[in-house]
Amino acid sequence: MRRSKRRRAAAVVISYTGSRMVCLWPPESNKLKNILITGGAGFIGSRLANHLIASGHRVIVLDILSPQIHGADPASSPLFRSLDRRVEFIRGSVTQRTDLMQALAGVDTVIHLPAETGTGQSM
Ligand SMILES: NC(=O)c1ccc[n+]([C@@H]2O[C@H](COP(=O)([O-])OP(=O)(O)OC[C@H]3O[C@@H](n4cnc5c(N)ncnc54)[C@H](O)[C@@H]3O)[C@@H](O)[C@H]2O)c1
Repeated sequence: MRRSKRRRAAAVVISYTGSRMVCLWPPESNKLKNILITGGAGFIGSRLANHLIASGHRVIVLDILSPQIHGADPASSPLFRSLDRRVEFIRGSVTQRTDLMQALAGVDTVIHLPAETGTGQSM
């Protein structure tokens, strides 16, 4: 029988209620090692990044630090500041090939969250 050469897409299922975040999938979450979170400085991404770091994964964040969400000075953005220092942060855009290629180096899972929703600032 001929084997398919297509790679399986990675999937992560996170349940988030209040201040508690639980990784539901994959069950053996230690299989995830090098995780890129695009838009990872945002409301969901920053919490997820800290959760994954605490679970022992390597986390790379690619985020444009949109002023609409983080203000004119990202250094004073509470969401950006909440990122664990162990996160490898790349300021850039998913729409820029060079930024994306830099962020993807050595990564096995991508969690894609870029948006202009600004959920955190509305709360
Ligand atoms: N927050 C919620 O309750 C909720 C619920 C359901 C779905 N979602 C979805 O999850 C995603 C993330 O939501 P959120 O609340 O974290 O959003 P958010 O607005 O807080 O964060 C989005 C992040 O994406 C970044 N970004 C914007 N454009 C970018 C680009 N071109 N390249 C890289 N980064 C970029 C921003 O700077 C920001 O840090 C959105 O698609 C949203 O619709 C959110």
